[in-house]
Amino acid sequence: MSDEQPADAAQAPLVEVRDLKVHFPITRGIIFNHVVGHVLAVDGVDLLINRGETYGLVGESGCGKSTLGRALLQLIPPTAGSVQFDGVELTALTGEQLRSMRQRMQMIFQDPVSSLDPRQNVESILTEGLEAHGIGADRAKRRELISETLDSVGMPRWALSRYPHEFSGGQRQRIGIARALALGPELIVADEPVSALDVSIQAQVINLLDELQDSLGLTYLVIAHDLAVVRHIADTVGVMYLGALVEEAPSDLIYAEPLHPYTRSLMSAVPVPDPDVEDRRERILLSGDLPSPANPPPGCRFHTRCPWAQPERCADERPVLHEARPGHWVACHWVEEIAEGRIRPHEVDAELVRPQEGVAAAPVVRAPQVP
Ligand SMILES: Nc1ncnc2c1ncn2[C@@H]1O[C@H](COP(=O)(O)OP(=O)(O)OP(=O)(O)O)[C@@H](O)[C@H]1O
Ligand code: SF4
Ligand SMILES: [Mg+2]
Repeated sequence: MSDEQPADAAQAPLVEVRDLKVHFPITRGIIFNHVVGHVLAVDGVDLLINRGETYGLVGESGCGKSTLGRALLQLIPPTAGSVQFDGVELTALTGEQLRSMRQRMQMIFQDPVSSLDPRQNVESILTEGLEAHGIGADRAKRRELISETLDSVGMPRWALSRYPHEFSGGQRQRIGIARALALGPELIVADEPVSALDVSIQAQVINLLDELQDSLGLTYLVIAHDLAVVRHIADTVGVMYLGALVEEAPSDLIYAEPLHPYTRSLMSAVPVPDPDVEDRRERILLSGDLPSPANPPPGCRFHTRCPWAQPERCADERPVLHEARPGHWVACHWVEEIAEGRIRPHEVDAELVRPQEGVAAAPVVRAPQVP
């Protein structure tokens, strides 16, 4: 998140995203469609991913994580902003230039069932990308390449002649990972790579991603809705709420001291193995659903659900992401007062923000308790 420019290119971030926006138009009309509004799925995100590191992007369903991941790979055209990959501005590329760049950036999808074509056998699934990018001189060479890739994800070579339905969920996700690896990418965007898997299998797949990173020097953007999933794999964690980052820090800092009220509430949902600590730990239950990204609340987007929301600033001034501690970025007006316990959590009545209602009413904020 620092603005300093690294001295040499090898130390420069592999991915640099600046003020990225993806606004989906909402259209109405039977014969002539006209645009009546926009879904602000991603609304001004900055992030850096260093080479060989893992950025964990976390937030609840609908906050814009997948849209951000896809826009980063240019699978969805961004509405505005910049995405640089290894110093190349991706938003300026078209056609063949973009296609050849895509070889270096691959995606692993959430659902290994729907993301693998049931009519193709594993060999055909894995060689498709190689053929499209002209990798491997002939079928024998391509088979050799994908056999090695299968080895690296812990799958037997006989899997090549089988179809996706013949495998368990965990094995299918290994095939999905092999498909991404086959092209020899530098960056992998893993969109909820384990959320469709049994808990017992999740750790195996996360460990596999970790090992592959070490052996192949990969850079990851790992998307999850649960902070526990990225805890052991992420170097940096970004927490997203309603289209924007609300907190970003090196993993150890954010888990040791989450500073944004939304991160604190997410963290309070993660169970602690020690039963004594588990009994004593703070639990914050958020009231209300995520407001609609077609009509985000004014001011701080979290103010309609924030247990620390204050009568001043929260409802009418949007907080910017600022460096509250060295390397620890937070978008909250009251971060210091909350960290020092000068503002205590209080009950918030969930406010319903309806898409057609225009500007939202102020939330019901109970008097803050100042000790
Ligand atoms: N093609 C689209 N057209 C219109 N709205 C869209 C489109 N794709 C996504 N959205 C909306 O953008 C918002 C963000 O969606 P997105 O899928 O990025 O969220 P997410 O954080 O990945 O959620 P989940 O955890 O459920 O996967 C949602 O409100 C979604 O309905
Ligand atoms: S700015 Fe206000 S509403 Fe937003 S997170 Fe901070 S205290 Fe809560
Ligand atoms: Mg998603």
